[in-house]
Amino acid sequence: MPHPRPAPLLASRLTKIEPFHVMRILADAQALEAAGHDVIHLEVGEPDFPTPPPIIDAGIRALAEHKTFYTGACGLPQLRAAIAGFYVSRFGLQIDPARIIVTPGASGALQLILALLVGRDDEVLLADPGYPCNRHLVSLFEGQPVNVPCGPETRYQLTAPLLEAHWSPRTVAALVASPANPTGTLLELPELKALADAANRHGGNLIVDEIYQGLVYGRPHETVLSVTDDVFVVNSFSKFFQMTGWRLGWLVAPEWAVADLEKLAQNIFLAPPTPSQHAALAAFEPATLAILETRRQELQTRRDALAAGLVELGFELSAVGDGAFYLWADARRFTTDAVQFAEQLLHEEAVAVTPGVDFGQAETMLRFAYTQTQPRIEEALARISRFISQH
Ligand SMILES: Cc1ncc(COP(=O)(O)O)c(C=O)c1O
Repeated sequence: MPHPRPAPLLASRLTKIEPFHVMRILADAQALEAAGHDVIHLEVGEPDFPTPPPIIDAGIRALAEHKTFYTGACGLPQLRAAIAGFYVSRFGLQIDPARIIVTPGASGALQLILALLVGRDDEVLLADPGYPCNRHLVSLFEGQPVNVPCGPETRYQLTAPLLEAHWSPRTVAALVASPANPTGTLLELPELKALADAANRHGGNLIVDEIYQGLVYGRPHETVLSVTDDVFVVNSFSKFFQMTGWRLGWLVAPEWAVADLEKLAQNIFLAPPTPSQHAALAAFEPATLAILETRRQELQTRRDALAAGLVELGFELSAVGDGAFYLWADARRFTTDAVQFAEQLLHEEAVAVTPGVDFGQAETMLRFAYTQTQPRIEEALARISRFISQH
């Protein structure tokens, strides 16, 4: 008789890392599609727009010219300079390109920063609701994510008073996102400055995830770097530049942190993807920026249509986000269990949305992504209306 294989010895950190509920919704949606159903995807966290043609062309050229070898760990010097140039042209800010590190997505940037700052059992403050990978990454580095409940009174954002109330002797950092996922809400520059000052006063650091920067509606483009340099900024080519699958992002670090971050980058990633970096050089060209501006306007129109439609149906939107492409809606008029609501909505009306529990303590909340065309959004609203009236 062969010996049964003993249970594999797995690291204990795995118990702290949860799968996304939305992955089950996505798998069910795909199964429905395979069976011939017309599913409307309002669960997906990426726009339906393909990468702008000038970026694709630059990527194809890079491959044809065999630009496939490793670059330096912090990225192509030309790209770091181009990102610095973008801070000049968009925000009037001079950032030393040496402080800019190109990474595999914002995800790569977050890993480097957390590897730099978080030791075993160190606490990191995060807004609840918030993007779940962030708290899981803190656990990956053996730290303790501290989920701070944030309600509509702060537009679901962590603020300096909340930071002060939750900062403990073990806290090393606070991580915020502006605009945020899942709410699309922003922190104002004075609020960001107050957060950075408070974290620094305690000897800690503020990390600001600006991955949705540029996707803002009815307000100017902003960065925390206009109010402080003593901050870690995460950004990406994924969302505004619509390059999710190219896996490219960047971080801006205080000067004192750069050498250690470079050492970590050398060991964790070796280098960000080379063809993607050459492609991204075209991201800041006027032709690309013009395409992106048209798409931003389209997203704004979609947001307004979806928000108005959801409110009319009876969902509560206590803070309509000015950015990203999400609406955070309370379905408590219809259900006490948003997971079940989302599953039934998918199976009965083929509309996929994300239950709020993926982002924190949010039993009756749903995240709607306006990443589909306006006619599809109108069709989704009609289906949701029918679903509600039948329950
Ligand atoms: C708030 C936030 N941060 C980071 C990421 C990671 O993005 P990427 O690694 O594609 O740049 C996402 C993706 O959805 C996000 O919503």
